[in-house]
Amino acid sequence: MQPAVALVTGLAALSSVADAFWRLPCRGTSGLARIDPLIDPGEPSSHAHIVHGSSGFSMSSDASALLAGDCTSCGVRQDKSAYWAPALYFIDEDGDAEMVDEVGGLLAYYLLYGEGVEAFPEGFRMIAGDPFIRSFDWPIPDPPKSEWTGAQASQKALAQKALGFNCLNYAETPEPSLGRHFLPNKTFLDEHCTDGVRFELMFPSCWNGKDTDAEDHKSHMAYPSLVMDGTCPEGYETRVVSLFFETIWNTYAFKDRNGYFALSNGDPTGFGYHGDFMHGWESGVLEQAVKQCTNPSGMVEDCPVFELQTEIEQLLCNFDMPDILKSEDLKKCKGGLPNDILVEWGPEYAFPIKYANGKQPTSAKGVPDSSASAEPIIDLGSLAGHVMVETSASSSSSSTSSTPTWTPTPVTSYVEGAVTQQVVYVEQEIVVLVDGQGNPLGTQTGGLETVSTSYSTTTEVVETVVTIPTAPPKKHHGHKRHGHGHVH
Ligand SMILES: *[C@@H]1O[C@H](CO)[C@@H](O)[C@H](O)[C@H]1NC(C)=O
Repeated sequence: MQPAVALVTGLAALSSVADAFWRLPCRGTSGLARIDPLIDPGEPSSHAHIVHGSSGFSMSSDASALLAGDCTSCGVRQDKSAYWAPALYFIDEDGDAEMVDEVGGLLAYYLLYGEGVEAFPEGFRMIAGDPFIRSFDWPIPDPPKSEWTGAQASQKALAQKALGFNCLNYAETPEPSLGRHFLPNKTFLDEHCTDGVRFELMFPSCWNGKDTDAEDHKSHMAYPSLVMDGTCPEGYETRVVSLFFETIWNTYAFKDRNGYFALSNGDPTGFGYHGDFMHGWESGVLEQAVKQCTNPSGMVEDCPVFELQTEIEQLLCNFDMPDILKSEDLKKCKGGLPNDILVEWGPEYAFPIKYANGKQPTSAKGVPDSSASAEPIIDLGSLAGHVMVETSASSSSSSTSSTPTWTPTPVTSYVEGAVTQQVVYVEQEIVVLVDGQGNPLGTQTGGLETVSTSYSTTTEVVETVVTIPTAPPKKHHGHKRHGHGHVH
């Protein structure tokens, strides 16, 4: 028998159950390299990235190069896009760095939120997140979305709320997606996150309707008022597909060693997590998928538009490493992070990039987001002392607790077969139970005013080639069915 292997996937839907989506698996990593064709075209980038998608990825790739790639490390053959983000490292007592395993690859959610959702235009690319940010002075957890006004609703605040670090413990109730916007410290990860940590990144989905890119690779796009949904700001009224990355990192493998975790961009806080996307779908396919892939299961198998490929094919697809980077070992690095990037704890904005040993940057043009700074977004006043304290998700923004608890009061349903659990959180006032196809099975209300927005979490057991320590999800009573999330 295969060892029990669980891969938990996070985000599912939905501000209403009508929102369709598909979850594109990228089980393979097309490469791990100091390459970033958006920020550092034609030369090595300052920090290491873990890359998924087309084998046409290179230091100078554009859409046509991606499309010319002969394979993809993702599950749909017609998608030659590239998806990349910094890798996570463990830094030990001697200062040596070791990459943490990314478990099961990347999941790229294509969420069809909002009215009149369009496919990305040809040649489209964008970046979410800012590698140099090291602080986000904000109540933890987020106040209810109905209170997101003023500075809380600024693009800068929304961009930070678009980052999530989900503590995974499959024996416990899952945390909501995008519920925590910083990387928990190692003590916390060792104690609570026995199945690792899931990085989540929501990309902006409001487009200015004309530019396929911008100098900073961001300003052609904006977040809707509630990060995942809500309304688009003026000038960015064209709603495109909402892209959401999930990757799982096996931090628990390091539980018996002293040290700490940091992103390859020298960020131990998580506030500087970011990701890049370069559109490389074959012409017309994404447009067709936006129209036709509306099965609420979110499974790519359920969309007739897609030509699927096996997990093995995904795992075998790699891009060519340029000669200049061939000798770099990015898995184990003596003396610190790859390229000697210094770890910067903040809270100051970490630009320009600092290197260990007085090394001069070889590249790293890394243009900072001009709107970003280390200035607090809001004066927290009396909340200031509580910034790193987690409180119950159902408490108000002003109440804090010294005991980290995360109790989003979910209703769960279990299905025998592939989909074992699906939990939907709709802020704290109303909890909606849905089945594997997104059909509502019932609601539970807390008597407060109804908030129409929601977080949701899907737990799915699938086979993957990587084994991590895991406990099976606790079986509760609940709605039991057979099969893979299909209603019989
Ligand atoms: C780690 O984080 C927890 C919870 O946020 C906090 O209580 C604890 O003091 C932190 N430990 C260290 C060593 O920073």
